[in-house]
Amino acid sequence: MTRAEAYVSRVRELNPSVVVRQADYRDADAFVSLFNSNYKRKTSQEYFQWQFLDGPFPSKLFVAIERDQFIGFFGVKIMPTNSEMPAGFTVDLLIHDDWRKRGIAFLLEAEVRKYCEAKGVAFLAALPNAFGHAAFKALGWASIAKIDTLVHSSHSKDQGQSVVPATLPGEFGAKKLFQFQKNEDYLNWRFNRHPIYQYNKIDDGKGSYAVTKLFTDIDGRKFGDIVYLHGNGSAKRELLKMALDKMESINVRETTLWALKHTQTYFDAVQINFIPVEQERYFCVRPFGVENNLLLDVTNWELSECDSEIY
Ligand SMILES: CC(C)(COP(=O)(O)OP(=O)(O)OC[C@H]1O[C@@H](n2cnc3c(N)ncnc32)[C@H](O)[C@@H]1OP(=O)(O)O)[C@@H](O)C(=O)NCCC(=O)NCCS
Repeated sequence: MTRAEAYVSRVRELNPSVVVRQADYRDADAFVSLFNSNYKRKTSQEYFQWQFLDGPFPSKLFVAIERDQFIGFFGVKIMPTNSEMPAGFTVDLLIHDDWRKRGIAFLLEAEVRKYCEAKGVAFLAALPNAFGHAAFKALGWASIAKIDTLVHSSHSKDQGQSVVPATLPGEFGAKKLFQFQKNEDYLNWRFNRHPIYQYNKIDDGKGSYAVTKLFTDIDGRKFGDIVYLHGNGSAKRELLKMALDKMESINVRETTLWALKHTQTYFDAVQINFIPVEQERYFCVRPFGVENNLLLDVTNWELSECDSEIY
């Protein structure tokens, strides 16, 4: 028995009345009420349906229940990547306030792992916030990157010159970076059928496009996210400029974007005065086999804002 398995059995012994099982459509209400009691950002039954029942990839929510009360949940979907290795991309880890620090996250993670192993998944991945990050590390996951947001505002031009890109353009494309695969079904589900967010597409008319999301605060100020860029090389660079121009033309105050430092997107963004801004978002991975060590080096990865489904 591994240390983690021994810990999970101990947690089970200490909490004999807690049952962990797969959720189904009847659990939507309980999911929504536990979620909404914890986060400012609210969810809905439609989100539950979209995420766990109507997605293009196999998707499951595991729930921890104590005497008919929902005390926690943890979701996962089997995402193809652009390599041979399918991922178990985890979402929505939450434990009821009264049940925290009692190992319930371990019980849920054990079920997620069992499900993913049976599906032939090579590794689990997550993009947690700071709380989740601490828990994922304690669960034995590798934390392989802190993801800063790149922000462009009207002040960016004055500060942009000080940001030196880590890589020169000639080096891009030298190796294939792992990405979560975004096929047509996925993109349609992710952007056109999202039950809560609305997205806009900025098309270059030549097969490349950017997906953006707008937000207006209570003072009427507009903010924008470039959540996804579809295109290669110079097309992507032009697209980024086009998306930014569009944002400026509709008076968006700040535009944000994700890009890891070793990627072309990062290089292109800082050239047009996007500034890195610290943000508490991490990329964590748990490989199932030692042969997958490549996954643990962030320079083998490309991620976009849309990978974290809260944008
Ligand atoms: C993060 C969260 C899911 C952890 O659940 P939990 O059931 O309390 O975690 P567990 O008791 O199973 O503990 C797992 C490990 O994480 C550690 N841990 C949990 N929350 C932690 C925190 N906020 N800071 C530091 N460590 C933490 C525990 O100490 C434990 O490690 P240990 O065995 O070495 O002591 C829970 O705190 C929560 O629901 N938070 C609010 C929602 C949230 O932020 N979710 C993450 C979204 S990415």
